[in-house]
Amino acid sequence: MKLTVEQVTHQYKNFLALKNINFEFTPGIYGLLGPNGAGKSTFMRILVDVLAPTSGMINYEGRNISILKSQYRDILGYLPQDFNGYPHFTAYQFLLYVANLKGLSKSLAKQRVDELLQLVGLIESKDKKLKGFSGGMKRRIGIAQALLNDPHILILDEPTAGLDPSERIRLRGILSKMAKNKIIILSTHIVSDIESVADQVLLLRKGELIEHATPAHFLDKMEGQVWTVTLQEQKALSLMDTFIISNVHQQGTSIELRIVATQKPHLDAINVPPKLEDIYVYHFGNPHQAISN
Ligand SMILES: Nc1ncnc2c1ncn2[C@@H]1O[C@H](COP(=O)(O)OP(=O)(O)OP(=O)(O)O)[C@@H](O)[C@H]1O
Ligand SMILES: [Mg+2]
Repeated sequence: MKLTVEQVTHQYKNFLALKNINFEFTPGIYGLLGPNGAGKSTFMRILVDVLAPTSGMINYEGRNISILKSQYRDILGYLPQDFNGYPHFTAYQFLLYVANLKGLSKSLAKQRVDELLQLVGLIESKDKKLKGFSGGMKRRIGIAQALLNDPHILILDEPTAGLDPSERIRLRGILSKMAKNKIIILSTHIVSDIESVADQVLLLRKGELIEHATPAHFLDKMEGQVWTVTLQEQKALSLMDTFIISNVHQQGTSIELRIVATQKPHLDAINVPPKLEDIYVYHFGNPHQAISN
């Protein structure tokens, strides 16, 4: 199975949101990582054919998805970033309704809905209306509706938004189990969501695909470039102006800094193993510096 992105560019009125993206997805889990406004949702909407690219195209098994239309939709599951469902439907009614739209037979639909309510941990809330659902519960119903037709291609736009830590872990487990023979693409700006689950990480910045690699490869490349040092506040603040800081930890009157730098940033700095979070900060900038400036 192959989903190919060829020279995809998207322009909203006067804003260039995606710039000449080229990529080939084969079965596996892909984490699309980038800050707010990077173009993740735009890219995903194009991948599911909700939005037509200004130029370029997406091919599924060598055929343009905008020509395949419903044939393509049949093998697709999609969770939009702004998914809400229908507030007056119960969880059960809503999933049954979507199953109907997706053309599942009545008996299969009921069985699938039950399975999925179990899978996302909402079986006990199945008769509650969606309007009474918390953000995390809505997200889980959104994930369930994307899975109804057992899609070959699953595209989840920020599936973990609003999920508590145990639900995040549960979702990772669900995705890993399903990944065989499927293309799963998820977007997030939370590195830990994809660090352990993604086969490949795609970094999107200002509409450009700046790098893609396995998490292990990203970490290898950063080996020897991540440091920690604990300093008095004044000294720490001055280092924060000079270096890329991936974490700051106040310890009494001292501050422990985590620094990304090719050279030893301070006499007392010691090398530590890189994390994917360091790579994120390296590419997308540094929230701590923004505060201190
Ligand atoms: N309908 C639209 N009209 C004009 N500009 C848009 C539209 N939708 C998105 N944009 C702009 O395109 C850029 C990319 O938006 P997009 O929603 O794809 O980013 P994102 O990476 O998903 O961000 P987030 O992490 O906040 O969800 C943003 O600068 C956004 O303001
Ligand atoms: Mg988005």
